[in-house]
Amino acid sequence: MSEAISEKVKRSLQDLGIGDEAAVTALLGELRATLDRDLASGQDAETLRIHWLGRKQGLIGAANDNWLKTAPGPLKRVTGKLINELRKHAEESIDALKNAATQELAGERVDVTLPGIRREIGAHHPVQWVMQEIEEIFRSMGYSVETGPEIETDYYNFEALNFPPDHPARDTQDTLFLAGSGNYLLRTHTSPVQIRTMEKQKPPVRAVVLGKVYRRDAPDASHSFMFHQMECFAVDTNVSLCDLKGTLNEFTRRFFGPHVKTRFRPSFFPFTEPSAELDIGCLICGGSGCPVCKRTGWVELLGSGMIDPALYGFVGYDPEKVSGFAFGCGADRLALMKYGINDIQLLWQGDKRFLRQFR
Ligand code: DAH
Repeated sequence: MSEAISEKVKRSLQDLGIGDEAAVTALLGELRATLDRDLASGQDAETLRIHWLGRKQGLIGAANDNWLKTAPGPLKRVTGKLINELRKHAEESIDALKNAATQELAGERVDVTLPGIRREIGAHHPVQWVMQEIEEIFRSMGYSVETGPEIETDYYNFEALNFPPDHPARDTQDTLFLAGSGNYLLRTHTSPVQIRTMEKQKPPVRAVVLGKVYRRDAPDASHSFMFHQMECFAVDTNVSLCDLKGTLNEFTRRFFGPHVKTRFRPSFFPFTEPSAELDIGCLICGGSGCPVCKRTGWVELLGSGMIDPALYGFVGYDPEKVSGFAFGCGADRLALMKYGINDIQLLWQGDKRFLRQFR
């Protein structure tokens, strides 16, 4: 095995048996090849500088001392020239390595004057604001807040609410049934919570319900397959239509403002008798007529009525002794009206530019 070049630089040319120009050129070629391997090895520039150019132990200095100084006359010139070229190559390459390392560090430097990364805080969803406000209004009037499951049975969603089997009124609800489950469906309204609450509570009952409901509706500006409803009902002795009207007036004024106008229109729901829908004076045009109210000055707000006595039979209440009212509507719709939003889809697209406005 040939002797390592780092050992060879410690000896004289004579000692190494080098006697002509070709041998000197080969020897310095070997030294240069070693340098090039070192340069490519990934060692840091300062280590390489000490190893190759260092004053005391540098290999090039050693070559100068041991080879050039002992070179016989005819070989001095070529030996000196090759060593100088090698030194120049070493200096330039090691400098270049050092510069590259400095630049890399500069690139990694942290600029403490840069603004920080701001993490946006979450915001209340407009429908959440609406539901919270409704809850507060009814709590202040002595109502309890009730909930029920979103996966319901035909019994609670329809039967106990006086939708007889195969009754056409069921078609108005566009129900989503759970595949293969037989009896289960996604509740189409919050009215089943009326039944569930009355089952577990004796009159007097005053309750408000807020929650998600689902319908087989094609999405458009006013339809969504999931939306929220609010439901409100009260059962006691001597509850009358007057109580219903008074409660609705109180609610609409507190929710939309003291000047909102209301009117009753007769309607039909299987679970109320008599039934009525409540309209409010259009908030956009103030009643003079615009596209939102279809130029009528009125906007449909909710369904309501006196609880049909048939329901009491399902929950063990005595229809001779108690009476009650109920009303319900879409909370999303209330949000659209209250905030002047013209497309229900905007509510559920999760676009932060939209949601940010409701902080
Ligand atoms: N549950 C009805 C629906 O989703 C809304 C409704 C109408 C609720 C009349 C009521 C009511 O409590 O009395 O279409």
